Amino acid sequence: MTKVTMTVNGKAVSGTVEGRTLLTSFLREDLHLTGTHVGCDTSQCGACVVHVNGKAVKSCTMFAIEADGAEVSTIEGQANEDGSLNAIQAAFQEHHGLQCGFCTPGMVMTAASLLKENPKPTVDEVRNHLEGNLCRCTGYHNIIKAIMAASGQDVSAIAAE
Ligand code: FES
Ligand code: FES
Repeated sequence: MTKVTMTVNGKAVSGTVEGRTLLTSFLREDLHLTGTHVGCDTSQCGACVVHVNGKAVKSCTMFAIEADGAEVSTIEGQANEDGSLNAIQAAFQEHHGLQCGFCTPGMVMTAASLLKENPKPTVDEVRNHLEGNLCRCTGYHNIIKAIMAASGQDVSAIAAE
């Protein structure tokens, strides 16, 4: 067992983990941050995306010990300080970018990393950036619309679906 310490959503946390403990498990089971979802555990679905040192990472592909000393952000840390939805979350709500919501935490975290790197993406750039995130409900259209809206771009020409 190994002690790990990291900053998660701005708070210092620590725990004792096995070498094989995934970051996903540490977040969900040790820290009870269950907003990070596990859809596959095989690096395909993107439901588990968090940010590690500012980069979007599928947390099922990383051991907790690899995040020792890192700054980690999860969906629980995304709301505004007053608890209201941030711009991306609000756009998902407004543009119906979710149905069951299972993929949504990963989608929001992936979108946040895209908009940080590329504040005004094209629709194609959004589509390409989401290639590692699967949604079984929405057909992606409204997710893309929500991300375009969150980037402050006019989405009136993107037809509803
Ligand atoms: S649970 Fe990590 S990619 Fe699916
Ligand atoms: S909203 Fe159900 S999986 Fe995406």
